[in-house]
Amino acid sequence: MAAEAADRRSGIGCARQCHRRGGHACRDRTGRADPSRRWRRNREYQLHDDDRDGRRTGRRSRIGHRPDPAGQPMSNPVYLALDLPQLDAARDLAITVRAHVGGLKLGLEFFCAHGHHGVLDIAHAAKLPIFLDLKLHDIPNTVASAMQAINTLEPAIVTVHASGGRAMMEDAKAAAGEHTRVVAVTMLTSLDERDLKRTGITGSPHDHVLRLAELAQDAGLDGIVCSGQEVGAVHKQWKDCFLVVPGLRPAGASAGDQKRTVTPRSARDAGASVLVIGRPISRAEDPLAAARAIEATL
Ligand code: C5P
Repeated sequence: MAAEAADRRSGIGCARQCHRRGGHACRDRTGRADPSRRWRRNREYQLHDDDRDGRRTGRRSRIGHRPDPAGQPMSNPVYLALDLPQLDAARDLAITVRAHVGGLKLGLEFFCAHGHHGVLDIAHAAKLPIFLDLKLHDIPNTVASAMQAINTLEPAIVTVHASGGRAMMEDAKAAAGEHTRVVAVTMLTSLDERDLKRTGITGSPHDHVLRLAELAQDAGLDGIVCSGQEVGAVHKQWKDCFLVVPGLRPAGASAGDQKRTVTPRSARDAGASVLVIGRPISRAEDPLAAARAIEATL
């Protein structure tokens, strides 16, 4: 009781005044984190939260259009991975294929090179939803602060690593913008069972992905990232999971460094919500023709 009173005085606690100590999100009756009940770890979070959607500050969206509002079906599930070092080349490619993809994925390579400025440049030029694939993985406070630092970019999707743990994922979700889906990377598609064993984890990729998917669901995230080989099983376990699937290769395409690959069509048929495709389009001789050909298979 004394601890709860102290929390109340210091402003620590959840928005619904349940005043529990330490890292937690408000829970529903099953014990799952309920992201609709916004929790703030400290005053700093609360200030950012209030500022998040510009309601108090009157600040307008810098991107200017709100992509892929939660709940609306996506017409084209393909997100093109713009893994290119040059901003001009990335912008040109985005404009070239924009009619044949549903969104753009900007990852570590792009964000480290071009930062916020680069993201806004691409978003304004292509006018497509932006998926910031930052794969955040750190202590909860650091991940939540990083999430708040990208809220002004209004990404449609942001990734964190499920192996960062439940508290980290809960805080990431609590700190994210209202219209941003936070999804957890389970096991990279460039890894197979042997690689997993070398990290000290025994068992199949299938079991590992399902375990981490359950953790992400308990933490109140919107979905997960997994390969097309596990997407059907996750879909059965977590019905409304937002399923992001990379490692996709059209029949006959080179796998490169990807190990758990399937075709875009089979991932779609198994229940994928978003199909992440990079090199099969970006490194194609004719990226526009490649994007069109993939779209035609879906
Ligand atoms: O070129 P490719 O189609 O293999 O690109 C896949 C993209 O998806 C890359 O940007 C990579 O960072 C990302 N990704 C992945 N595997 C995951 C999560 C993201 O390949 N598990």
